[in-house]
Amino acid sequence: MVRKLTRLALFKKKGLGIWRFAAALPFPPGVAPVSLGEGGTPLIQLKNMKSKLRLDGLYAKNDGQNPTGSFKDRGISVAVTRAKSLGARALLCASTGNTAASLAAYGAKAGIRTVVVVPKDGVASGKLGQAFHYGARVFGVAGNFDDALRVVFDLVKKDDRFYLMNSINPFRLEGQKVAAFEIYEQLGVVPDYVVLPVGNAGNISAIWKGFKELRASGIIRTSPKMVGVQAEGAAPLAAAFASRRSFEAWEQPRTVASAIRIGNPVSWKKALRAIEESGGMAVTVSDKEIMEAREDLGAEEGLLVEAASAAPVAALPKLGLPRRAKIVCIATGNGLKDLADHGPEQAIESAENASSIGTSVWRS
Ligand code: F0G
Repeated sequence: MVRKLTRLALFKKKGLGIWRFAAALPFPPGVAPVSLGEGGTPLIQLKNMKSKLRLDGLYAKNDGQNPTGSFKDRGISVAVTRAKSLGARALLCASTGNTAASLAAYGAKAGIRTVVVVPKDGVASGKLGQAFHYGARVFGVAGNFDDALRVVFDLVKKDDRFYLMNSINPFRLEGQKVAAFEIYEQLGVVPDYVVLPVGNAGNISAIWKGFKELRASGIIRTSPKMVGVQAEGAAPLAAAFASRRSFEAWEQPRTVASAIRIGNPVSWKKALRAIEESGGMAVTVSDKEIMEAREDLGAEEGLLVEAASAAPVAALPKLGLPRRAKIVCIATGNGLKDLADHGPEQAIESAENASSIGTSVWRS
């Protein structure tokens, strides 16, 4: 559904957060949102990396600043609002970690029982800690995210008291599309490229939907090229794009970026459509490139993102984008959640006294 919006109806409300854009969300007026203050995240120019990357208009949309530390909060807020209005008894999702953390928090806020199913191994400890903290029941399956999703599909088929909250739930994408409105408003123009990590392929589809709605409403006249980035070891979408052949799932996805360790993305069709309609592309990056980009974002820009969220920056050198292009990378998740899992092995230096610190700092 492409809704007809006017610039006034869409941008007139001040304040921050996705619910400012309620006119573009599929609810009757006056709905009470289940909200923790999601959306309204900063768009930060990456000025220090620009000379190395030879890109003058490079930005990060820092969605790690959402209430539970990832972009998932945008869609989960909307989908839990819907679930609550339907009187859902239990919220259910499969997750590589961030959706689980987000759903647990919004489930708590809504007062609805929350169940998350994750791969037994490999989920970042901070994300699991969040899910427990917000009071969710956490189940682990042997295998990867795709196995967890199969279990969840099976469960909703057998027991209709569970309400499915993965990104095939269209309300998730409605919330996530708002990032497009914010990017346009913060940048003041339509970016030339939006670059983002792709796992289950919901976010790329959602952000493209947001730009399409702006365009269909006559608010903007151009749209960005959508660039999906996958890790080399978990790249079924990039492979389908490169071969121009039909999509095939990957059995054993492998990457250090656990959030996007997915071999059978549920929204692959929508994502390929977004890439093709926008004139974009899907590319891969190695784990080494991801970790280097993650470190550069920290040491050069003061940003702490998780591994998956560094994939767009890792991809930039191979995209061959024009120097003057306006490029927005989506920093999808906060690095605090997996710092212990991937942090550089750095030792604390011993400080015997004040002068030993001074001597050591100025020597190097
Ligand atoms: N970045 C991060 C930090 C993520 O957690 C995810 C997905 C993605 C990117 C990819 O987004 O799935 O919409 O293509 N994480 C999901 C989860 C799968 O369960 O938290 P996508």
